Amino acid sequence: MTTPVTPSFITTDIDLIKEAQGMLAIFVPEAGTLDTTAKRVNRLSRGAIARLVDGDGFAKLDEGKAMVLAYPSNMEAEGVVVIKLSRRPDVGSARKAGATLAKMVGSKEVMVLCGNLRRAEEVALGYALRVYEFNDHFTKEATDPGAVKFMVNDVATVRDAASANGAVADGVFFTRDLVNEPANVLTTTEFADRLVALEKLGVTVKVLEEDALEELGMGSLLCVGQGSDSPSKVVVMEWMGGEVGDAPFALVGKGVVFDTGGISLKPAGGMEDMTMDMGGAGVVAGVMKTLAARKAKSNVVGLVGLVENMPSGNAVRPGDVVTSMKGDTIEVINTDAEGRLVLADVLWYAQEQYEPIGMINLATLTGAIIIGLGHENAGVFSNNDALANAFLKSAGLEDEGAWRMPMGKAYDDQLKSRVADMKNVGGRPAGSITAAQFLERFVKPETPWIHLDIAGVASLKTESDFAPKGATGWGVRALNRLIADNFETPQP
Ligand code: BES
Ligand code: MN
Ligand code: ZN
Repeated sequence: MTTPVTPSFITTDIDLIKEAQGMLAIFVPEAGTLDTTAKRVNRLSRGAIARLVDGDGFAKLDEGKAMVLAYPSNMEAEGVVVIKLSRRPDVGSARKAGATLAKMVGSKEVMVLCGNLRRAEEVALGYALRVYEFNDHFTKEATDPGAVKFMVNDVATVRDAASANGAVADGVFFTRDLVNEPANVLTTTEFADRLVALEKLGVTVKVLEEDALEELGMGSLLCVGQGSDSPSKVVVMEWMGGEVGDAPFALVGKGVVFDTGGISLKPAGGMEDMTMDMGGAGVVAGVMKTLAARKAKSNVVGLVGLVENMPSGNAVRPGDVVTSMKGDTIEVINTDAEGRLVLADVLWYAQEQYEPIGMINLATLTGAIIIGLGHENAGVFSNNDALANAFLKSAGLEDEGAWRMPMGKAYDDQLKSRVADMKNVGGRPAGSITAAQFLERFVKPETPWIHLDIAGVASLKTESDFAPKGATGWGVRALNRLIADNFETPQP
C-alpha cells in the first residue's frame, strides 16, 4: 500500500529558516513582492532572491511553476525553490504549485514558507498527489520521501482544511495502487479483500459470491467470468454518514481484473494494459475511502463487479444468449464487449436494492472513447441534465477532464438482435455511444444516471500534472466534490 506523505504544519517563525535542512520553498507573485518569510530568505542570501525574481527567467515562468536557487549562502538549506504564485491562488494553481514543488524536491526534506498564502492546504494536496510512486514490486528498497513542513501564519485553520484534503489523497492513492497492481496479484479475491479492509474506516462491506449472484439471476455478469479460475464477485460498500433512512447515492464500477477479450481474443500487442480494466471499480473504491476518511455527512453506496475475462473451455462464446438479472436476454456477439455485461447486472441490483437518488457508473468501457476524446477527457453520458451539469462543474473545479457525449434512440437501435432482446455490440460507428445505450437499458427512467467512460484517463503512458506514469486516480476528486457540494447534509 502506498501511503501519502503527511505534511506537518507549524506556526511561522522566521528564526527557523536559517537552520532548515534540505530544501526551502517560497511563493512570489507575478509582481515580485516578497512576504515576510521570503524577505528573510532574501536577507540571509544577501539579495539573491530579489535578483532571481527581477530576472528574465522568473518573468517567463507560468503561474505555479518554479526556479531553484542552489546552495544559497548563509543558510543550511541546499536550495530555495522560488514558486511563482499569487498570494490568493485558485484551487487549481495552488495544487499545481504543490505538484511542481514535489517534482523539484524529489526525496529531500522541505520546509514550505507560506506565511499568509491562501489555500496552503491545496498546495499540500498537490504536493502529496505528485509524490506518489508505485514501487511495491521492486526488490530494491524504495527511498522514503523526505519530511514536508508547511510554515503558516494560521496553523489551526490550515490544519483542518489539510486534513480533509489528506482524505482525498488517501482515496486517490488507494485507486492508483489498485489500478497499477498486476492481475496475478490483484485477483478478484484479493480485490475483494482490500475492499473489506475499508471496514476499519467505518464502511460496511458485503461480498456477494458466485452462488449468491446466481441466486439473484446475474447471468450477464456471470457469463464474463465463467472462463476464469478466479471467482466472480460483487462487492457492496455502504458509507452511511448522512441522515438515517435517506436513500443513498450509488457509485458503480467495472472491475474486470484482466481483459483478454475472452474467445474474441485481443491481439497480443498492448494486452498487458488490460490489467487496468478494473479502473472503474478502483475509482469507486477510492471515493468510498475518501468519504469514510473525512467522515462525509452523506449516504453513499459503492458497488463493484469483479470478474476476469479469460478464454477457456468454459468461456462464454460469441453467439451465446444470456439472461440478465433484469430479465432481458442478451446475445453475446463479441466476448470482448464484456464490461457492459458486468455493469448491466450491477446497475440493476443497485436500483432494486437501494432505490438510489442518483447513480454514477465508471468503466474503462471502450477503446472508441480514446479515439474520440484522447487522454484528456472522460466521456460523460447521462439521462439527466442537472446531474450531468453538476458533475461537469465538479470535474472542472478539480481539473479532471470530462466531456458530455450525446445519446439517442437511433444509437439504441444499433443494438437490435435477431435472436434476443438485444446484442452486446452495435457495430463500429459510435462505439462508445452504443455501449452507453446498452447500459441505459438497465437504468430505470426515474433514476438520474451518468456513465463515465474512463478508458482514456484511468492510466497514462506519460506523466501528468498530479501523477507519474501509470494510474491517475481520475475521478476520485471530482466525485468527492460532487458529493460534498450536492449530496451532503450541511454542517450544523
Ligand atoms: N476494456 C476494453 C476497453 C479499453 C480499451 C479500455 C483500451 C482501456 C483501453 C473493453 O472491454 C473492450 O474490449 N471494448 C471493445 C468493445 C468492442 C468489442 C465493441 C473495444 O473497445 O474494442
Ligand atoms: Mn473487452
Ligand atoms: Zn474490458
